[in-house]
Amino acid sequence: MTARIIDGKAFAARLRARVATQAAAFAEAAGRPAGLAVVLVGEDAASSVYVRSKGKATREAGMAGFEHRLSADVRQDELVALVERLNADPAVDGILVQLPLPAHLDADAVLLTIDPDKDVDGFHPVNAGRLATGLPGMVPCTPYGCLLLLQDELGDLSGLDAVVVGRSNIVGKPMAALLTAASCTVTIAHSRTRDLPGVIGRADIVVAAVGRANFVQGAWLKPGAVVIDVGINRIDSGLVGDVDFAAALPVAAAITPVPGGVGPMTIACLLRNTLVAAHRRAGLAFDEGRA
Ligand code: GUN
Repeated sequence: MTARIIDGKAFAARLRARVATQAAAFAEAAGRPAGLAVVLVGEDAASSVYVRSKGKATREAGMAGFEHRLSADVRQDELVALVERLNADPAVDGILVQLPLPAHLDADAVLLTIDPDKDVDGFHPVNAGRLATGLPGMVPCTPYGCLLLLQDELGDLSGLDAVVVGRSNIVGKPMAALLTAASCTVTIAHSRTRDLPGVIGRADIVVAAVGRANFVQGAWLKPGAVVIDVGINRIDSGLVGDVDFAAALPVAAAITPVPGGVGPMTIACLLRNTLVAAHRRAGLAFDEGRA
């Protein structure tokens, strides 16, 4: 057996095309385009690339993109004041403050300032609480993208055993909440987990988000498992995920590659979240449709 390679790039392109159609219908109904504001502090090269591609994708989807670039030595109160202005701006439906922030800034305090209904990253504790309790809110983009790929691959996930490797607030915890809501039996594994190979070996679904190159071994997987690799690690030979891809191929039923798997889904889901926020703020129904 060799695993099917899940084409996240193609899935994300279909999702973005659908979002563009929905964005045009929104602009027509609301009399204005949906708007996403992205805030970048400092000159970090990787963050700068992300922010530029987010802006480009926003415009390509027919939405308004507002880019705010602040100098690396901006004061906390200046950054908070900008977020408060964006909260109050009726043309802005979504606010994203690019992380990481320079060390002198308190990122948690900045994220707490974002209006939860404009928090398209889904990082605000109010949205984490909404997700945990099943209330409508903003769902973090990367785990939501992983869920869409899993549902596309497997259909109904109910009753399946899922292991999420990694317990971050950005991926691991919201991923576990989404899989629980989809009626999986969910285990969150992490650096202190005893017998990780044994835990992973029982899983129908493995989501790896630990940030360690080639960490999950092919021999740990249950034959026929579906593997979602969230990792992006730069090593001498190039970019690799958190799963030993070559070793997983003969064991898994399907696996996401790195690059070209989960990565492209994140921006597509950010655009989708912006549109969800725009519809809610305008009192319009959002039709999810299918990619
Ligand atoms: N930095 C890297 N990825 C992300 C993301 O998804 N959201 C934010 N706000 N910052 C990031």
